[in-house]
Amino acid sequence: MSYETILVEKKDNVTLITLNRPQALNALNSQVLADLIDAFAAFEADATQGCAVLTGSGEKAFAAGADIKEMSDKPSAEFYSQDFFAGWTSHVVKATRKPWIAAVNGFALGGGCELAMMADFIIASENAKFGQPEIKLGVAPGMGGSQRLTRAVGKSKAMDMCLTGRMMDAAEAERSGLVSRVVPLDQLLDEALKAASAIAGMPPLAAMMNKEMVNIAFETTLDAGLVMERRMFQVLTATEDKAEGMAAFVEKRPGVWKGK
Ligand code: CAA
Repeated sequence: MSYETILVEKKDNVTLITLNRPQALNALNSQVLADLIDAFAAFEADATQGCAVLTGSGEKAFAAGADIKEMSDKPSAEFYSQDFFAGWTSHVVKATRKPWIAAVNGFALGGGCELAMMADFIIASENAKFGQPEIKLGVAPGMGGSQRLTRAVGKSKAMDMCLTGRMMDAAEAERSGLVSRVVPLDQLLDEALKAASAIAGMPPLAAMMNKEMVNIAFETTLDAGLVMERRMFQVLTATEDKAEGMAAFVEKRPGVWKGK
């Protein structure tokens, strides 16, 4: 399947999705959203695929934000009536239960930072720069920045980023807990694909439930989250892959997973 704004490649059991509007620093317009919704749905539905990596084309940007040129003349009533930006959470984040990683190369600003934060985790190149500069355009984050950034780095740094619109480099992003790893740019894709391949090699139901469990921590109380965690653990004990995983450990051999 070919798309107008993204490239999609299957690398064994990992799907690599590349934002491909380098002339606009991979700015996110409505076509990018439509293409990503389609690509993530195909990834989700494909039983051969266990993890995805999302990156940006070129060395300069993961994505420099929502497309300002698409938004500049749009009437406010249309933003509201279309519930502009809603599809990112409903059709990309919530619809994708399998794990995926953002490999951030260069600028991840505004919607670009917000898209990276929709991933299960972020691996960044040393030249990556994160920011929520919307305030400088007279607006504010609209794809989750005020909420996901605050949960990722805490109130003080999120306020600093949103109110000053400054950029955070990769080292600060790693110190702050926004990204899980930082690597040289020329190793970024290898590192992200290696991590994705390791995840895709895990028992699939356990991978989905581990993802779901961590996400529940952002939505609920500690007590309710701990109950959910135990229930999911208990459900996993009924799977064939649990029997295989524990037998493989005892027999000192790699497990062979069925996703059942
Ligand atoms: N939307 C549309 N086009 C963009 C864009 C964006 N967010 N960011 C960059 N571009 C385009 C530029 O207009 C330029 O196109 P032209 O050659 O046709 O003029 C091209 O990409 C290259 O950009 P620059 O010439 O500006 O490159 P630079 O190296 O001088 O600067 C930059 C890089 C600092 C990232 C700068 O491009 C920039 O500040 N971009 C905008 C960042 C921003 O404000 N993002 C937030 C957008 S609003 C948002 O995302 C709302 C939300 O919450 C979802």
